[in-house]
Amino acid sequence: MTFFVDNEIVEKVRDASDIVDIVSSYLPLKKSGSNYVGLCPFHNEKTPSFTVSESKQFFHCFGCGEGGDVVSFIMKRENLSFPEAIKLLAEKVGIEIEEKEPKDLIKTEEKNKGYEINKEAARYFFNNLKENAKVLDYLYKRKIGNKVIRQFGLGYALDSWDALYKYLKGMNFKDEEIYRVGLIGKRAKNEGYYDKFRGRIIFPIIDTKGRVIGFGGRVMDNAMPKYLNSPETYIFNKGNHLYGLNLVNKLSDRKRIIIVEGYMDVISMFNKGLNYAVASLGTALTERQARLLKRYGEEVYFCYDTDKAGINATLKGIQLLRNEGIDPKIIFLGDYKDPDDFLKDNTIEDFEEKMNSAYNHVEYKIFISKEKYNTEETEGKIKFTKEIAKIIKDLKSPIEQDIYIEKIAKDMNISKEAIEKEVFGNTKKAKGTTQYKKKTIITPVNTSLPLASLTAEIDLIKFMIFDRDYYEEIIKEIAVEDFNSLECREMYNIINRLYEDKEIIYEEQIREEIMTVENMDIQLVKKVFSKELKFSPNNVNHMIKDLIHTIRTNKLENKRNEVKLKIEEMEKNKNKNYLEEKLFIELCMELTNLNKELNLIRHEEGR
Ligand code: CTP
Ligand code: MN
Repeated sequence: MTFFVDNEIVEKVRDASDIVDIVSSYLPLKKSGSNYVGLCPFHNEKTPSFTVSESKQFFHCFGCGEGGDVVSFIMKRENLSFPEAIKLLAEKVGIEIEEKEPKDLIKTEEKNKGYEINKEAARYFFNNLKENAKVLDYLYKRKIGNKVIRQFGLGYALDSWDALYKYLKGMNFKDEEIYRVGLIGKRAKNEGYYDKFRGRIIFPIIDTKGRVIGFGGRVMDNAMPKYLNSPETYIFNKGNHLYGLNLVNKLSDRKRIIIVEGYMDVISMFNKGLNYAVASLGTALTERQARLLKRYGEEVYFCYDTDKAGINATLKGIQLLRNEGIDPKIIFLGDYKDPDDFLKDNTIEDFEEKMNSAYNHVEYKIFISKEKYNTEETEGKIKFTKEIAKIIKDLKSPIEQDIYIEKIAKDMNISKEAIEKEVFGNTKKAKGTTQYKKKTIITPVNTSLPLASLTAEIDLIKFMIFDRDYYEEIIKEIAVEDFNSLECREMYNIINRLYEDKEIIYEEQIREEIMTVENMDIQLVKKVFSKELKFSPNNVNHMIKDLIHTIRTNKLENKRNEVKLKIEEMEKNKNKNYLEEKLFIELCMELTNLNKELNLIRHEEGR
C-alpha cells in the first residue's frame, strides 16, 4: 500500500528509535569500546565487522560497506520503502501514525492512467506491425531482426485518422486522458480528435521502470517530418530520459555506455549484440541525461552522426559530461553517416575496434580543428595552432598540457617554446594556477539552479533594494554564501556596500555596477530589474520568511546532493583503505545530518 507520513512524524519516530535497541532485536550485539559490534546481517561473515554507534545513532559494516541510520537499517533489513520503514519503526516504539490521503496520491493515480494508456497504445502498434508485411519488410531491409523488434516493442501506426483513437475509446479511456499523453490532437472547432501518429513505424520510449512514457514515429518514405515524437507531457520529460536505457538497465554490465543520436542507431547496436547504447530523444543532451550516462557506464562514449550538427552536439556533450566529472571518449566513424550506417557494412567487432581507438576529448578537438583548417598552408597552420593553444590552456593538468604541446609542436613542426608562449602568454608564471582558479569558481551553478530557488533569490534581492528595513531583516538571516546564483551574490555585495552610507538605494545604481562585473549572466540580471515585486504590507514579512526558507532548503539540498555523489563515488571502491573508510563514514554521517536538518527546517516552517 502506498501511504504518506509527514516529516513531523518521521522526526518523532527517528528520535524515539534507539539504533542499538532496534538492531539488537535482529542480531546479538556486543559492546566493544564505545561502539557495539555483531555479525553483519547484510553479508556472510564469521568475524564481526558490523558496528553500531550509540552516540552517533549510526551503523556501518566494515566488511560489506553497508551503513546508515536506524531507518536505513530497517529499510535494508526488511526490504521496505522509506514510509514503510517509518511505519514499522513507529509500531516498534509505540507511536501512532495516522495515514493521510495526500494530493500526491491522486497525482500518482493520474500518472498510472497515463502509463496504462501508453502501454495499450504500444501493444496496439505492436500488433499492427505483425499484420503489415510492408512494414516488416522495411525493417528487414534495414537488417532489423525479429528479436530486437520484440525487445524494443517496435510497432506501426496505421495510415488512418482515428484507428488508435477508436481503439483506445473502445477500452473506455476518456478523450481528455488520451489527449493528455499526446497520442491524439484536437480538431479545429471542437470537432473531435485525430491520431497524431499515422503511417509511421513506432518506437515506444520506455523508462527504467518499464513504463511507456512516450513514442517516436518514423515515416517509411521521404515524407516530412522524418521523425515525429510525443510532445512533453505530465509523464514525459524528454530531458530526463534516454532511449534504450530500459534495456541497458537490464542487460549491460555498466562498464561502457555509448550515446548515439538516433533511435535506429541504438536498435542497430542491440541488433548486433551490443547492449549498452542509448540515444537522447531528438533534443540536445541535458545535464540530467549526462548524469544518467555517468550512472550507467564507467566509461562514456560519444558516437554521434559525423555531420556538422553531430560534431557540434559532440563538443557540447563533452563539456556537459566534463562538468559532471566524466572524461568521455569519442568514436569517429569517418565516412559513415552514423552507427546504423556503419553497421550495415561492418561487424560489431569492427565497431569495437573503433571504440578501442576512440579519441579523448583533447584529441577529438584537435582532430576537429585540423579538419577545419588546411594545415598545409601557413595561414591554416597558424589558425589551427592558435585554436589548439586555447584548448591546451583550458586543461587542468600541467602534465597533460605538456604532452599536447609537445605533440602539436612535432605535428606542426613549430618550436615547443612558441606554442608555450601562445598557450601561457609571455609569463610562465601564469601556467596552470590562474586558469585553474577561474574554472573552479565559475562552475555553472546558475544553470542547474532550480527555478523556484532562483526566483526566490531574485525576489529577496529585490526586497533588499526596496526598503532598508527589509534589508536589515534579511541580512540577519542570510549571508552572501547562501545564495547560489553568482549574479545574486554580486548584487548582495553591491547592496551591502551601497547601504553603508545611504539610507535609500535605487535599482539603477545596482544595475550600473553589476554590468561592469565580468562573467555575469546578463539575461538573469535583466530579469531581476524587469520583474515587478508584488506584495502587500501585511504579508511582506511572511513572504520574506518564505523566500529565506526556499533559499536555505535549496542550499542544503545542493550540499546533500554533493555529499550523495561523493558517497556513490566511494561506494564503487570495494577495497577502501583505513583512511578512505573513515572518510566514507564521515560522509555518511554528514548525509544523515543534512537529511535531519532538511527535515527540521521543513517541519519548522510548517511544511
Ligand atoms: N529526430 C527527431 N525529429 C526529426 C528528426 C530527427 O526527433 N524530425 C531525432 C530522432 O530521435 C532521430 C535522431 O534525431 O532518431 C537522428 O535523426 P537523423 O539522423 O535524421 O535520423 P536517423 O536516426 O539517422 O534515422 P534513419 O537512419 O532512420 O534515417
Ligand atoms: Mn540513420
